[in-house]
Amino acid sequence: MNHRSRISWRRTIIGLCSVPFIALAAAHVPASAQQPATGVSPSTAVGQPPAAGQGLMIPAERIPYFHDWASSPHAKADARAFTNWNEVGEIPETCARCHSTPGFLDYIGADGSAPGVVDRKAPTGSVIACGACHNDTVRQMAAVTFPSTLRVEDLGANARCMTCHQGRTAGATVTAAVLGHGEDTVVPELEFINIHYRAAGATLMGTMARGGYEYGGLPYASQRRHPEPFNTCTTCHELHTVAPKSEPCAACHEGVTNRESLVSIRKSLVDHDGNGDIVEGIAAEVANLHGRLLSAIQTYARDVAGASIGYHPHAHPYFFNDVDDDGALSEEEAKMPNKYASWTPRLLKAAYNYQFVGKDPGAYAHNAPYVIQLMHDSLADLSEANVTDLTRP
Ligand code: HEC
Ligand code: HEC
Ligand code: HEC
Ligand code: HEC
Ligand code: HEC
Repeated sequence: MNHRSRISWRRTIIGLCSVPFIALAAAHVPASAQQPATGVSPSTAVGQPPAAGQGLMIPAERIPYFHDWASSPHAKADARAFTNWNEVGEIPETCARCHSTPGFLDYIGADGSAPGVVDRKAPTGSVIACGACHNDTVRQMAAVTFPSTLRVEDLGANARCMTCHQGRTAGATVTAAVLGHGEDTVVPELEFINIHYRAAGATLMGTMARGGYEYGGLPYASQRRHPEPFNTCTTCHELHTVAPKSEPCAACHEGVTNRESLVSIRKSLVDHDGNGDIVEGIAAEVANLHGRLLSAIQTYARDVAGASIGYHPHAHPYFFNDVDDDGALSEEEAKMPNKYASWTPRLLKAAYNYQFVGKDPGAYAHNAPYVIQLMHDSLADLSEANVTDLTRP
């Protein structure tokens, strides 16, 4: 196939990447071409049930990027992000946008409904299919509204990613919850406020999205400023496997050979975590500050809020009473009835930022200055003594 005809073939396929076409095509892919590892077939790829009796045949190998996509987390049909609602049998409006293809199409208005809102519950059983990211509506979409209500324009194809990877709360959610209460007063009605998972878009946009709790009177980093074109989701991540890239980084970041070595990347010469090491990766600066923030949260909770606190990264709602005050949570302690209930406004703000950083494992690459500022300011707010040896970026 010559170059020109390859391009036109590709164009045709993209044009045909509309939901019904691939659904029809996919219905006839032999079972052997499907992906047993993920339980995904080309028909789940588009999020539509196969239509019987149609004559179109396109084998999976000829659907461009099918295998890349099928190996991605977006196609992992057995992930909790897709199976969580199986017992109930439907996905509620508040969750459907990011956890199903029909819910996403509903949110962006590609199904003819009003954009910006999910109007109805979505069926279970879909993944993030081709048809979510490829349709006429999404092609026009370049802006994203974040939970802070701030809207960011001109995002191009990355608007798709950020519509889901933006978190469910914002600093403003915390501000509203603590309004009218003294900073160090235990407020029994306060509950932990959770950013949710993998809110990379909110990290990347920094203060343009105000995903973190930003303390009054301080400047915060804006959208990540990295040499072009490595500023967007789809230049740093593979388009369809969505794995973080490493080969293009090596040109400017010495020592990068694979994904594991990305954490060694370092350009800034400022010691942010106070350990005197300015050669360790920026990822280590972020991780060390994160550790210091948890210790400071624990000290404050014990001394000021009057009840010891512990954090569990995988048990909802993450912060629990550290009943035996041993600085760690046992399985028994990390249970719902023992959830932390002595929140003061100051504590809630710091805990919110702690989780904001913790639930974005790519935070160091997405926007190190922003997350370092958030953690620095939370530390300082808990006690000025926490930051005497630290430098704010
Ligand atoms: C704005 C988008 C968005 C909304 C709305 C949303 N989620 Fe999520 N959720 C995500 C993303 C992104 C992940 C990916 C986590 C990952 O990659 O591990 C996720 C992950 C999850 C997981 C899997 C966690 C794990 O440990 O693997 C569960 C469970 C979940 N969400 C529940 C919910 C529920 C319940 C709702 C509605 C009340 C909801 N989500 C609404 C974006 C969203
Ligand atoms: C999570 C979102 C997402 C999903 C799911 C997805 N794609 Fe894409 N795809 C993109 C983005 C972003 C681009 C680049 C911008 C564009 O061309 O729209 C792209 C580009 C493409 C292109 C053009 C690439 C080129 O080289 O010019 C094709 C063809 C394509 N996708 C096919 C598919 C197929 C088939 C599936 C399902 C098997 C799929 N995509 C699933 C996001 C997605
Ligand atoms: C419709 C919502 C949606 C869209 C659009 C979307 N994602 Fe996701 N993404 C998710 C969910 C849900 C998961 C978790 C899937 C799982 O647990 O297997 C996820 C997982 C991921 C992961 C893996 C996270 C992990 O924990 O391993 C990466 C990386 C990712 N997405 C990047 C992207 C990029 C880049 C784009 C745009 C091209 C994008 N996503 C578009 C919902 C979405
Ligand atoms: C400067 C490059 C860069 C940009 C821009 C970028 N990422 Fe990342 N991202 C990374 C790196 C590097 C990691 C991996 C961190 C690690 O594993 O050490 C990562 C991790 C992630 C993860 C978590 C993956 C996991 O396995 O837990 C998600 C989800 C993600 N990115 C989504 C996005 C989305 C969505 C965008 C756009 C809003 C984006 N990223 C923009 C480099 C980038
Ligand atoms: C063209 C050269 C170039 C390429 C290619 C490049 N970077 Fe960078 N990177 C830089 C420069 C210059 C900085 C310092 C920018 C700043 O923070 O002001 C930087 C900063 C960073 C930082 C923060 C380091 C610190 O100390 O704060 C991370 C993380 C990073 N890059 C990741 C990546 C990843 C991941 C890739 C590949 C997907 C990549 N870079 C590709 C030039 C590059």
